[in-house]
Amino acid sequence: MPLIKMAAFDVSNQIMTSFAAEKNTAVIGNWVRARGRGIQNGIDFGTAGEIDKIQVDAVSTVLENGFIPIFPCIGWSIAGKPYNISSTQLAAALSVKLKADKLFFLTQNTSITNKDFDIPPNTKISQEGNVLALNVGEIPEFLHLNEERISHLDNASDHNKTLKQSMSLLRLGLTACRAGVPRVHILNGSNNGTIPCELFSNFGSGTMIYEDNYGGIRNMTIEDIPDVLNVMRPFVDEGILLPRTEVDLSEQYNDYIIYELDGGIKACAALHVYNERQAEIAAVAVDKRCSHIGVGPKLVHYLIEKAQNLNISEVFVLTTRTADWFEQLGFAPVAIESLPEERQKKWKPERGSKALALKL
Ligand SMILES: CC(C)(COP(=O)(O)OP(=O)(O)OC[C@H]1O[C@@H](n2cnc3c(N)ncnc32)[C@H](O)[C@@H]1OP(=O)(O)O)[C@@H](O)C(=O)NCCC(=O)NCCS
Repeated sequence: MPLIKMAAFDVSNQIMTSFAAEKNTAVIGNWVRARGRGIQNGIDFGTAGEIDKIQVDAVSTVLENGFIPIFPCIGWSIAGKPYNISSTQLAAALSVKLKADKLFFLTQNTSITNKDFDIPPNTKISQEGNVLALNVGEIPEFLHLNEERISHLDNASDHNKTLKQSMSLLRLGLTACRAGVPRVHILNGSNNGTIPCELFSNFGSGTMIYEDNYGGIRNMTIEDIPDVLNVMRPFVDEGILLPRTEVDLSEQYNDYIIYELDGGIKACAALHVYNERQAEIAAVAVDKRCSHIGVGPKLVHYLIEKAQNLNISEVFVLTTRTADWFEQLGFAPVAIESLPEERQKKWKPERGSKALALKL
C-alpha cells in the first residue's frame, strides 16, 4: 500500500503540475469512499478496494468554482483506511455520477482492430482495420465473439495484457453508456493529440461507444441555414452535390431536416414533394467527422417515413456518385422519363445524374 499511495499521488502531482503550467487550478481530493474487497473464494484481496460512494456534491462544488478535480486511485473507508481502487472503474463511476457528456479512456497502446479481435459483421471499421464506433447494442456481440479466446491468454506479454484491458474497457464503457453517459471513447494515450484527433478528424483516433438513439433529427429552421450550407459545402466543392444558396434553402425550408449532435448540425437531407405519388430525397449530406456510423441511413429512413405518412407511393433520388449507397438502402435504377415532368426539366444532360427510386 505505501508504494501504491506513492505512485497514485506521484501521478496526481504530475497532472497537477501540467495544469499549473497551463495556468489552471487543480485540486487533489479524497472524495471517494471505498471498502475492502475482503476475502473472495479464499483469496484475500488485502488493500484492494471497491468504490463505495463518491461525494458528488463536493466534486460539483469544486467544478462550479472553476477548479479541476484530480482523483488519485485511492479510496478511503469510513474509518479513514486507504484502499487501492481501479482508476478505470473510478473514471466510469465518476462519469455516471457527474452526468458527464463524454468519458475518455486514455490507455497505453490500446487500439481495437480487426488484427486482434473478431469483429461482428456490421461493425464500422476504418481502412486500417480500426473499430471506429460501436453502439451499445453491438458490444455484447463483440464481447461474446472474443471473450473466450482473450480470457485464456496468459499475462506473459504486454500485448496480451493490452487485449484484456481493451475488453475490460469495452465492458466499463458499455455500463457507463447504459447508465446515461452519451459517449465513451477508448483512445491510445501514447499518440500525441489523441483527443482532438478523435473529436475533430474524419475517422477519429480510437473507438467510440455510443447509445443507440445517437443524436437527434429535427426539422430545419431558418436560423439553421448557414450551418446547413456549411455541411453541404465540401460536397458541393467536390461536385457531388448541386450548389444551393441561402435563398434556395429559405424558399424550401419546410422540406429540410437536420441531424444535430453536441449542439451542432452534422447532417442534412430534404424531401421535395412533386405530386401525390412522387417525392424526391435530395441534399443528403453527412459531415465527414460523423460518417460511417449510420447517420445517412437514419436521415433517409426518416424521410421515407415522412413520405409514407403523406401517402406518397415512390421516393426517388438523383445522384452522380452515390448510386451504390442508395441501392444498398433498397433503391433501384429507373429511367429519367419516369420522374415528374417538373424534375425532368431540371435534369442536366451534362451532369448526367442517375435516377433511382424506391416503391413505398
Ligand atoms: C453518402 C453519405 C450520405 C453516407 O452517409 P453516412 O452517414 O456516412 O452513411 P453510413 O453510416 O451508411 O456509412 C457510409 C457507408 O457507405 C459507404 N459509402 C459512402 N459513400 C459511398 C458512395 N458514394 N458509394 C457507395 N458507398 C458509399 C461508406 O464506405 C460506408 O461504408 P462502411 O460503413 O462499410 O464503411 C455521406 O457519405 C455523404 O454525405 N456523402 C456526400 C453527399 C452525397 O453523396 N449525397 C447523396 C446525394 S443526394
